Amino acid sequence: MAGIKRRFISLLLALLATNASASTLANVLDAHNNTLSVLNNFLAGQQALFAQLADAKDITVLAPSNDALNKLQANDAVMDAMAADSGMVEAFLKYHVFQGVWFTSNFSTSSDSPSIVTTLMNDTAYTNVTGGQRVAGNLVNGAISFQSGNQNSASVQQGDFNFTGGTIHIIDDVLTIPANISDTLINANLTAAQGAFSQSGLVQSINSESEITIFAPSNTGFNAIGAVIADMSASELASLMGYHVLKGKVIYTAQMTNQSVTTSEGNEVHIRVEDGGIFVNSARIIKANLFVNNGVVHICDNVLNPSNENAQPNPSLSTQSPAFTGAKTTNSVPFTSGIPTPTPSSSAIVTATVTAYPVPGSGGGDGGSAPATAGSSSILFSSSLFARGGIFGLWLLVGWIQLLAGGLF
Ligand SMILES: *[C@@H]1O[C@H](CO)[C@@H](O)[C@H](O)[C@H]1NC(C)=O
Ligand SMILES: *[C@@H]1O[C@H](CO)[C@@H](O)[C@H](O)[C@H]1NC(C)=O
Ligand SMILES: *[C@@H]1O[C@H](CO)[C@@H](O)[C@H](O)[C@H]1NC(C)=O
Ligand SMILES: *[C@@H]1O[C@H](CO)[C@@H](O)[C@H](O)[C@H]1NC(C)=O
Ligand SMILES: *[C@@H]1O[C@H](CO)[C@@H](O)[C@H](O)[C@H]1NC(C)=O
Ligand SMILES: *[C@@H]1O[C@H](CO)[C@@H](O)[C@H](O)[C@H]1NC(C)=O
Ligand SMILES: *[C@@H]1O[C@H](CO)[C@@H](O)[C@H](O)[C@H]1NC(C)=O
Ligand SMILES: *[C@@H]1O[C@H](CO)[C@@H](O)[C@H](O)[C@H]1NC(C)=O
Repeated sequence: MAGIKRRFISLLLALLATNASASTLANVLDAHNNTLSVLNNFLAGQQALFAQLADAKDITVLAPSNDALNKLQANDAVMDAMAADSGMVEAFLKYHVFQGVWFTSNFSTSSDSPSIVTTLMNDTAYTNVTGGQRVAGNLVNGAISFQSGNQNSASVQQGDFNFTGGTIHIIDDVLTIPANISDTLINANLTAAQGAFSQSGLVQSINSESEITIFAPSNTGFNAIGAVIADMSASELASLMGYHVLKGKVIYTAQMTNQSVTTSEGNEVHIRVEDGGIFVNSARIIKANLFVNNGVVHICDNVLNPSNENAQPNPSLSTQSPAFTGAKTTNSVPFTSGIPTPTPSSSAIVTATVTAYPVPGSGGGDGGSAPATAGSSSILFSSSLFARGGIFGLWLLVGWIQLLAGGLF
């Protein structure tokens, strides 16, 4: 008896596997009701919308698990922000759909050079990155990990569930829509870089233009030349910081080859890839691909010197030397006074929460209040979508379905 039963089950499984590639999105979501029931409970009864999905082609859908959606529902700050802005809901949903079919086997296995994937999120209210905002994906400890705004990560719990239009991966957390440069710098604790851009009068321009790449020196890098910077005039400081900005080009690690690029200050920086490291002039990039709404930020270990563009790195050293003569530290990290530092909870789910920092002309420069915190509520919302924040939960999911069903395809 047991043998027959086993054979029956394996035949059934084989049959299911054969037909897997012909499954609709609805079939696949249903088949994973154990992890997607929050989503599916709501989707039950929406078959008409699903019927339209038959035409969806060449996409990768990230389906947030129950835990991921429960965590989102519990985040009052984010729920309020989205409730006040239906465009944000749509942007959020589109950020979870990739252009092209990305199986888990397609992602880079290198943490230094992750796959940079283009999403469907291209609404200019949320991104000014040509083609659509990006997500980084690579294999980490046996699972595909996605990095989105604020360096937040989400991992694939189960993946490669193929449907007629592409494939679906179930993820354990939602993605974060990239914030503007200033919020991103503060969330990354790059307070000296934010302060230096602020004192240079460049904050408005770098945050408002499209297609920007920023090399943001770490606080340690700024501190190393504290004595040099203390003597700079306002115009020298503006030139210095402009040398860290590339306008009109977004260069992710995937595009980083040996090359010279003209900065907004006017001189060139030299990007070089050597001994497994990436360098800008003599500075090492220590953390790459921080997505921002208008481009990307790379953290480097030293301040770049526009008067020393031929400075060479020593790739065998983990920390590079300052590119300035007379480099000396000062008692406190320059430019950080009044710039808020991140709090452990300031890394919000959907969008940056740090909003208060000095902007020239907006008065004071006293740094404003501490970063707002998100996700203060610890009540997880596991039993029903409608128990709390219900109308919004409904709206979010309706948006998701409409997006998949009609809005895009
Ligand atoms: C999915 O799981 C939920 C919760 O366990 C259950 O209420 C619902 O009936 C299930 N739906 C399907 C299609 O199996
Ligand atoms: C994924 O890998 C397959 C097989 O190598 C390839 O045909 C396909 O183009 C890849 N997809 C992407 C999005 O790179
Ligand atoms: C966004 O993408 C859609 C679908 O490809 C396209 O129709 C639309 O023009 C794009 N919008 C922008 C601002 O690029
Ligand atoms: C993108 O650019 C447009 C036009 O300059 C601007 O109105 C919009 O606010 C920008 N979006 C972002 C996210 O910065
Ligand atoms: C989905 O398709 C890909 C590529 O053909 C394959 O590697 C993967 O095993 C398929 N997934 C399932 C669950 O059959
Ligand atoms: C931010 O940097 C300061 C020093 O500049 C350090 O004391 C603090 O621990 C850092 N905070 C975080 C959250 O990394
Ligand atoms: C990039 O430049 C460095 C230093 O000049 C050199 O060692 C390296 O081989 C170059 N890489 C490539 C891919 O040409
Ligand atoms: C950055 O984004 C935050 C949050 O949306 C906003 O409050 C702030 O004014 C923006 N900063 C700049 C310089 O645009």
